[in-house]
Amino acid sequence: MRIKLICVAGARPNFMKLAPLVRAARQDPAFLPVIVHTGQHYDDKMSGQFFRDLGLPAPDHNLEVGSASHAQQTAEIMKRFEPVVLAEKPHAVIVVGDVNSTMACALVAAKLLIPVVHVEAGLRSFDRSMPEEINRLVTDAVADLLLVSEESGRRNLLAEGIPEHRIHFVGNLMIDSLQINLDRARESDIGARLGINASFGLVTLHRPSNVDEPEQLAQVLGALSTIAEILPLYFPVHPRTRARLEAESVLLSPRIHLIDPLGYLDFLSLMSQSCLVLTDSGGIQEETTVLGVPCLTLRENTERPVTIEEGTNILAGTTKTSILAAWEQAQRMPKTGRIPKYWDGQAAGRCLAVLKDHYSGVLIPNN
Ligand code: UD1
Repeated sequence: MRIKLICVAGARPNFMKLAPLVRAARQDPAFLPVIVHTGQHYDDKMSGQFFRDLGLPAPDHNLEVGSASHAQQTAEIMKRFEPVVLAEKPHAVIVVGDVNSTMACALVAAKLLIPVVHVEAGLRSFDRSMPEEINRLVTDAVADLLLVSEESGRRNLLAEGIPEHRIHFVGNLMIDSLQINLDRARESDIGARLGINASFGLVTLHRPSNVDEPEQLAQVLGALSTIAEILPLYFPVHPRTRARLEAESVLLSPRIHLIDPLGYLDFLSLMSQSCLVLTDSGGIQEETTVLGVPCLTLRENTERPVTIEEGTNILAGTTKTSILAAWEQAQRMPKTGRIPKYWDGQAAGRCLAVLKDHYSGVLIPNN
């Protein structure tokens, strides 16, 4: 019997984590992966382009939930995911990261008594105003196997009373994707298409706490305008942020180049060539650490402390003053770092080894 795994993807940052796992599972006769896309992200630039760039097979099920309030979106994912789980009867449901799809599908599986495997478990910002923190807490509370990407994940889970035997340090699947795709990304001509011929910084911004309040958005954009006087900035704009910029009719320095969201390879290419990244994303803090590119995180906290302790990440805060202070510090003394343990491109293999061990009773030869 093969171990049937429902692998859930919902939003952009999930796809890079799922792709290496699905790829490794498809190559191993012990596993039968079934891909479910919830449709939380649905624009081609937020979803389809990533499936193509990452070589992810088309989903076996697409729930097509689309955007809505948190409660509506979560509820709709749960309603549409339950019949899929009942029909597929998997041995486990694998959820990755911390988006609404992660939590919704974990809850459905747990209530159907299907084991939940959470990849990237245990990360904590200790900031419950972040929707992702709620998703992380709930998902970890119902997960049976908790696969962590950095040592802080294990510490946090143990402190919350999760038994040690359910926690496994497997490393970082997002870095598997980075290593698999970096050479291809370097072949991208995105720099030429954008007319980049000098040093530049790369910006991403999409957290509700940064973009939904006009005053807060003005703080961040004020800092970016000052930095852009010295370093031209390229800014692929998330749909949420695009809507806020248009609603506020914000006028930006011409040295801040607003562009459409980029696919995985184009973004990785720009990130690897940039001399500074400014972001409020989670995964980009990790990718810049591995690429050795200095990163200013435009947040008050991070659930990925290893990127600060060992990597190139600096927590810059969210006010114009704090961001500019971090930028000056980064200019005076660019941060170097080392690559954290198990961010080595082998995380998918470690995930599957944990699963094989867990399901060793299920694996009956030639059945
Ligand atoms: C979600 C995740 C966040 C992750 C981010 C990456 C949650 C709670 N948040 O935030 O953790 O960092 O994805 O992008 O799960 N939209 C489109 N096209 C799309 C998808 C969204 O136009 O394909 C627009 C819609 O107006 C939508 C808004 O973006 O209302 C926000 O999308 P949503 O998935 O709710 O949250 P994100 O901000 O993308």
